[in-house]
Amino acid sequence: MTKHIVVLPGDGIGPEIMKAAIAVLQAAAKTSGEQFTFEEKAFGGAGIEAAGVGLPAETLAACQACDAILLGAIGGPAGSPWEKAQQTPEQGLLALRKALNLFVNIRPIAVPDALLPLSPVKEKIVKGCDMIIVRELISGIYFGTPRELGSMEAYDTCRYTVAEIKRIAHRAFAIAMTRGKHVTSVDKANVLATSKLWRKTVEEVARDYPEVTLVHQLVDSCAMRIVQQPTEFDVILTENLFGDILSDEASVLPGTLGVLPSASHSEGGVSLYEPIHGSAPDIAGQNLANPTSMMLSVVLMLRQSFEMHELADQIEAAVYAVMNEGIVTGDLGGKATTSEVTEAVIAKLGG
Ligand code: NAD
Ligand code: IPM
Ligand code: MN
Repeated sequence: MTKHIVVLPGDGIGPEIMKAAIAVLQAAAKTSGEQFTFEEKAFGGAGIEAAGVGLPAETLAACQACDAILLGAIGGPAGSPWEKAQQTPEQGLLALRKALNLFVNIRPIAVPDALLPLSPVKEKIVKGCDMIIVRELISGIYFGTPRELGSMEAYDTCRYTVAEIKRIAHRAFAIAMTRGKHVTSVDKANVLATSKLWRKTVEEVARDYPEVTLVHQLVDSCAMRIVQQPTEFDVILTENLFGDILSDEASVLPGTLGVLPSASHSEGGVSLYEPIHGSAPDIAGQNLANPTSMMLSVVLMLRQSFEMHELADQIEAAVYAVMNEGIVTGDLGGKATTSEVTEAVIAKLGG
């Protein structure tokens, strides 16, 4: 059956890496017989240009009616006029995640052998690193009220309910059951009330998964251990803000944000796939962006939304084969352009 995909290229390098990933998907689909239709919509800064808001109503409606969503990246450079919009690109992204109830964000961090020499971390430390960060995505300090930005004082509210913690914890434990059966729950329970509730609730959920080992870790020491002993981690379960920060930190292990995809899910609704990085205004429009993060986001979509495992494996293998040959962009110390990497991946797929 044809799968209908809503495509949100967004801003900065978003459209460049999206074009690359769609070309790869189309090349792979040609020989597999799978059918896809694509519907492009304005989102982020592009949404503001088209309709005055980061998430135009028409874009949301299309997202609610499709089989999966692919998102490039959103956001302008510091000082962009979009920061003054009635709804900024970032607010548009948060609104989309909330509207679709995308409470679980899966961020796999693996270091394939091809990247071992390119990692700034010593090979003996990083070899075999394969973890999944399960980030709660629609609560916590990102969404809590009251919040206020005054000229002399500002505040945000971090709030979590037991129900919100339980549902994300169940996802993390279920994922751990399919892998190394180890969950590291990351919090700041020595200080924060929300973290104390988080820890207690995660312990309750853990009782349903007796085969899984649960370890609690404070976020500050976790940040240190991610680079010091990355192979110790299997599944990291954490709240919204900590997950945002730790996943960018973990990108240092493979050497760049440019190879990291993510998947966001709800309870049975449409899922969204996007790189964990942003719109990289510093390299936008120059054919320099690493398209791997977007291609691997497509791989996650094929596996997690469509169960098209063969097609997913083919694309993933082609992406890694190109990396193995040293055809990599500047973020990985190479000289290849976005288009050269894309053409090389398509060639591997027989396109
Ligand atoms: P960023 O992730 O855009 O960039 C951080 C660094 O990583 C930059 O040096 C950039 O060049 C590099 N980088 C990121 N992706 C790359 C790729 N695919 N290939 C090569 N290099 C890559 O973070 P930032 O600069 O702090 O934020 C820029 C904008 O992106 C801001 O407006 C921010 O709000 C937005 N943002 C959006 C998302 C999203 O769309 N999900 C995520 C993070 C940041
Ligand atoms: C991410 C981004 C977003 C977040 C921003 C752009 C709102 O950093 O997807 O990691 O903080 O969740
Ligand atoms: Mn982030």
